[in-house]
Amino acid sequence: MVKDKTIEPWVCQCGTHNPEYKLLCKQCGRRREEEKNWKGTHGKTFAIIGASNHAKHEREKDDYYATEPRVIQELFSVEEFSNNIWEPACGEKHLSSEMEWLGKKVLSSDKVARVHGVVAYDFLSEKTWHFNGDIITNPPYKYAMEFIEKAYKQINHGRKIAMFLKITFLEGVKRHHFFKAYPPKTVHVYSSRRKCALNGDFDNTGGSPTCYAWYVWEKGYQGETTLKWLK
Ligand SMILES: C[S@@+](CC[C@H](N)C(=O)[O-])C[C@H]1O[C@@H](n2cnc3c(N)ncnc32)[C@H](O)[C@@H]1O
Repeated sequence: MVKDKTIEPWVCQCGTHNPEYKLLCKQCGRRREEEKNWKGTHGKTFAIIGASNHAKHEREKDDYYATEPRVIQELFSVEEFSNNIWEPACGEKHLSSEMEWLGKKVLSSDKVARVHGVVAYDFLSEKTWHFNGDIITNPPYKYAMEFIEKAYKQINHGRKIAMFLKITFLEGVKRHHFFKAYPPKTVHVYSSRRKCALNGDFDNTGGSPTCYAWYVWEKGYQGETTLKWLK
């Protein structure tokens, strides 16, 4: 488990007591106040840089919706992953922090580095990195197919890609062809709703009308897709 000893246990606005090593509330996903106020400087690509001053509209154009961190524990309860994980569209690290808390070594990158510890890297247009591990993210939905294709190029045979996507990703003519080339090994459909908050603002996000699923690919797998359900 990755722990930051400099951080004290804290109580979230929602009343939940969180241990010192959690940067995001384990119940509602809110970020610790101190972390929200962290300001860093812009670095260049591939440098680990700090929080940026991106205006709200800039963030929206990048399709920034933070995901409830609990979806990671739910995924890990049904799938095995490498110790090395890459979260390539990590936003403010809601999923990354949860994976770190569960003991994974996580590379957190995003086109927009919003918080400390995020590598500025455009997953679609920058040079392909070879990554020895699995890739897990909730990608920008409109580029989900591109993210999956690029992720295939970055990882080794037998490694996994897990994408948190709307159930409607299953439909569509374009995606019909895509799924023939890249059949997911398993799709875990949520029976109840999970929240994604615009700009990470869980305070002003109500219940979600959207059904999500974890789509899991294994590089090299060419069989049928298994459909399973998560509560
Ligand atoms: C739906 S949000 C998810 C954020 C995070 N994965 C989570 O679940 O909390 C999508 C993220 O993709 C990032 N993004 C958009 N285009 C990108 C690109 N080409 N390369 C890397 N990240 C990108 C956005 O900045 C945004 O943070």
